[in-house]
Amino acid sequence: MRVLVVGGAGYVGSTSVETLVARDHEVTVYDNLTTGHRGAVVPGARLVTGDIRDGERLWQLLSGGRIDAVLHCAARSLVGESMADPGLYYRTNVTGGVTLLEAMQRANVTRLVYSSTAAVYGEPRRVPIAEADRTEPINPYGATKLAFEGAMRWFAASHGFRAISLRYFNVAGATELNGEDHEPETHIIPLVLRVAACEGAHVQIYGQDYPTPDGTCIRDFIHVRDLGVAHLLALQATGEADPSFEVYNLGSAAGFSVREVVEAARKVTGRAIPARAVKRRAGDPPVLVASSRRAHRELGWQPRHSSLEEMVADAWRWKEAHPGGYRATATEEGSALAEPRQIARSVSAS
Ligand SMILES: NC(=O)c1ccc[n+]([C@@H]2O[C@H](COP(=O)([O-])OP(=O)(O)OC[C@H]3O[C@@H](n4cnc5c(N)ncnc54)[C@H](O)[C@@H]3O)[C@@H](O)[C@H]2O)c1
Repeated sequence: MRVLVVGGAGYVGSTSVETLVARDHEVTVYDNLTTGHRGAVVPGARLVTGDIRDGERLWQLLSGGRIDAVLHCAARSLVGESMADPGLYYRTNVTGGVTLLEAMQRANVTRLVYSSTAAVYGEPRRVPIAEADRTEPINPYGATKLAFEGAMRWFAASHGFRAISLRYFNVAGATELNGEDHEPETHIIPLVLRVAACEGAHVQIYGQDYPTPDGTCIRDFIHVRDLGVAHLLALQATGEADPSFEVYNLGSAAGFSVREVVEAARKVTGRAIPARAVKRRAGDPPVLVASSRRAHRELGWQPRHSSLEEMVADAWRWKEAHPGGYRATATEEGSALAEPRQIARSVSAS
């Protein structure tokens, strides 16, 4: 397959590119490097820098029968930032997404896999969440991801797209080459590992009186390598499908508590990792986990690396091998100097 991976220099995109390249697919990455990294694009893939809202440039890449399918991983994806600047989220995630769809339609490329999110469900009425459950996002991030899914649905109905959206919660872990390097970082595992690496004073645990076995919130995690395989299986499935729009959850159905994450990190790193319990945050449901039964059944997807220990161990190994992240080892957008990295005095996790 010849695949265009939009957002392929980011955490999820770059690791999926690795999976595709390792299986001899021909990959072009399209990314504006706002949160992604040039150094995350593996040598077997071609990087083209550009913005998802540049329809002409996308069309040039897609036209002439050079691309069979698109994997769309580009997004703004910070909940807090989306509350502060919803316009940015609508411009990138919705306008940018629709620009991509129109460029694909014009170039007659109709196979699309979308890296969506379980944030589209909002506060679930039951867990584990199934695909048909109510979608009622509680922030602009989730709302814009859902709005783009709506556009996918109608491009399938009106223009013959074969489109699959994968919804998941927290991605974790690393491959040998690529790992998580976000600034700011908001995800619990890298935040806890920053404390292990003495880049933060302590982990904050928001609430320990939830109705869960240890009183802390339970969240769903998927290893980034399992996600790469899910993306590949979904891309293959679009080759066989009739025009359609399908949604699959990717989750563990069980999840791990915040306290379990901290304990696993202590075990893996051998470091103390001080943690402080603080008040609950508004809008944090006790349990957020999704059922992947449909993905198992119809895509043949099974997570193989998503034990908590493996995710934390892989993330730690990558962090130790890349102490300054990509900035320390690679140049961004041609800049010869590495950016100074801001070290947080204390970090928080939920
Ligand atoms: N990381 C997670 O835990 C997680 C969980 C659920 C869903 N997701 C989804 O997975 C996708 C990737 O997430 P991630 O963690 O890899 O994020 P990321 O920020 O590491 O990657 C996003 C990539 O998109 C690129 N990008 C952003 N705006 C762009 C634009 N206007 N034009 C071109 N490229 C642009 C960035 O430079 C970056 O390389 C997102 O769509 C996100 O919603 C991620």
